[in-house]
Amino acid sequence: MSEQHDWSSSGFSTRAIHAGSDPDPRTGAVIPAINVSTTYKQDGVGGLRSGYEYSRSANPTRDALQECLAALEGGGSAHAFASGLAAEDTLLRTVLVPGDHVVVPDDAYGGTYRLIARVLGRWGVDHTPVDISDAGAVAAAVRPGRTKLVWAETPTNPLLTVGDISALAEVAHDAGALLAVDNTFATPYLQQPLALGADVVVHSTTKYAGGHSDVVGGALVVRAGADELSERIGFHQNSMGAVAGPFDAWLVLRGLKTLAVRMDRHCDSAEAVVAFLADHPAVAQVLHPSLPDHPGHEVAARQMRRGGGMVSFRVGSRDKALAACERTRVFTLAESLGGVESLVEHPAAMTHASVAGSALEVPDDLVRLSVGLEDVDDLIGDLDRALA
Ligand SMILES: Cc1ncc(COP(=O)(O)O)c(C=O)c1O
Repeated sequence: MSEQHDWSSSGFSTRAIHAGSDPDPRTGAVIPAINVSTTYKQDGVGGLRSGYEYSRSANPTRDALQECLAALEGGGSAHAFASGLAAEDTLLRTVLVPGDHVVVPDDAYGGTYRLIARVLGRWGVDHTPVDISDAGAVAAAVRPGRTKLVWAETPTNPLLTVGDISALAEVAHDAGALLAVDNTFATPYLQQPLALGADVVVHSTTKYAGGHSDVVGGALVVRAGADELSERIGFHQNSMGAVAGPFDAWLVLRGLKTLAVRMDRHCDSAEAVVAFLADHPAVAQVLHPSLPDHPGHEVAARQMRRGGGMVSFRVGSRDKALAACERTRVFTLAESLGGVESLVEHPAAMTHASVAGSALEVPDDLVRLSVGLEDVDDLIGDLDRALA
């Protein structure tokens, strides 16, 4: 139990450091405990202390993380899961039943598409892939009466396409559907989808939220006022059981405390890397929302604080892309993103191999970088060598 304080009017980093982390009233501990107990003593049958009964249903460490996530996204409530995909699955099965339809981005994390197309598809949920940077195309893909959810990811993984969240919210709500936004790439520090009209924010907290490549986790943050939706998600979370464990929840909560400073440095270095790549003769195209010639630049400038730490670029052929990925030394060749260490990958053969042959297939000359927190001169020197 913690002394409750309302941090809602405080700045981002104050909320990140304090929301959910009020000092323990018994010991004064300034850091929330990793509460591993699976069960809680009842004061008489049904007499629950502080509402805790069994740790799948509720756990104090998970609650601390959920409070912090809700405060950072400006949401009414948050639910923390064992992975980003567990969060997605729980949301999808909360709001969709067989016969329903979901609009999905034609560029998105491959695992999201695989879940919707190949897992939920078998249970009678239909989907239409569409370019979410074109709100008119999203409106045309909606099936009146059947579309219950519009799924957006912005910027997208791996092409960094930008969707206009306010416009997408209008399209979804006109159709009687909900808008879910995967905010994993931007993080709540760079972008606040709920304030722009989204109903639910989705996170793979494995990435920037955790920030140190040492925890797999996910989250759903529900807009304030949507209590019934939040209760239904909570019911499914408890019924399906894919909750975040206490140590994982604690690691994500610790990561969130430094999110703003990390994101500013990720953005600074990504912008320097973008400038270097844009001038490099071996690079055919650089994709980053900060670039004035990026098709989503104007929308990104409106809805994002900065362009983020992810950079993709094309080098003209699969062989050249593979060679660049294999020659770096500071950028580690690995999947995932958002940690302190820089990573390089070939999406067509790695993170997005599961969407080969689908509408989400990615160009095979594409290289994706997660620009980390090493010294930027070392990062640029490494890319210079790899592209030579
Ligand atoms: C944008 C995005 N959303 C969701 C996920 C899935 O999250 P997790 O790997 O934590 O299940 C990922 C994973 O790479 C991702 O990049």
